[in-house]
Amino acid sequence: MHTLREILDQAGKRGVAVGHFNVSDLVVVKAVFTAAKELNVPVIIGASEGERSFMGVRQVAALVKSLREESDFPIYLNADHTHSRASAEEVARAGFDSIVFDLSALPLEENVRQTREAVAALKAIHPSMLVEGEIGDIGSGSEIHETMSSGARKLTTPDEARQFVQDTGIDILAPSVGSMHGMSRSMVRGESKQHLDIERIAAIRKAAGVPLTLHGGSGTDDDDFRKAITAGISIIHINTELRVAWRSSLERSLASKRDEVVPYKILPPVVESVKEVVKSRLELFNNPSLVAQEHAAKA
Ligand code: G3H
Ligand code: ZN
Repeated sequence: MHTLREILDQAGKRGVAVGHFNVSDLVVVKAVFTAAKELNVPVIIGASEGERSFMGVRQVAALVKSLREESDFPIYLNADHTHSRASAEEVARAGFDSIVFDLSALPLEENVRQTREAVAALKAIHPSMLVEGEIGDIGSGSEIHETMSSGARKLTTPDEARQFVQDTGIDILAPSVGSMHGMSRSMVRGESKQHLDIERIAAIRKAAGVPLTLHGGSGTDDDDFRKAITAGISIIHINTELRVAWRSSLERSLASKRDEVVPYKILPPVVESVKEVVKSRLELFNNPSLVAQEHAAKA
């Protein structure tokens, strides 16, 4: 079984990105795992602090480990958006493959100092765990927002990225490049799309020298995803699109089976709906020929 670091190296060389999907329950875990297996591509399960407090840190770790071992399939577990050392050390002890140590809300110097200390402490507990640091503003909350203004947000500069990686020793960087957590109502209806700052991604990748993660992927224009992968994005996080599919399919399933009380009769259509969203994103992120079209178009 390849390590997550090896999977990221391969993704960079092949010009594809690894999909990262957040989970809050077994329904979404099943959907993500089945989608990745059907396409035979590696995948990362993400659990933020809120998602972990619902599922249990050791419980989600045991679940993903059991799927990986039983099927010998490259499924990995990331501790998404972790804001404290205590919480970070807990996931390191539980054996997570990676962590997003996110102090991006703090002043940059404080973010640098605490992230550097966390990298040393976490590697001492779990040497192969990859540590991702975050700078700039990517918003908060994988939810439906009334408005999604991008104007006043702080985007990451290539110089900040270079300095942050050098000063902290992180393995992966999450920059702010135009995306934002969550979706607007018009994005949910498919009437508008999120766009990315592709030139900034390319410049940051060059300056940082480590793999980059794109957060806030939901609602992004497909072409922007392709261009972002070509520009150097190696991991793409999707959450709100799955939550929207989960809720609407659950409502449909409940409405179509008014007197049903058996969860395993109500929930399979929900797994199916979420799986379809994951599959379409994985197809896009793992299609080197589509990415290659971008290379050709640029040349
Ligand atoms: O870390 C999770 C994500 O960045 C998901 O963002 O809800 O906009 O897809 P999203
Ligand atoms: Zn995120």
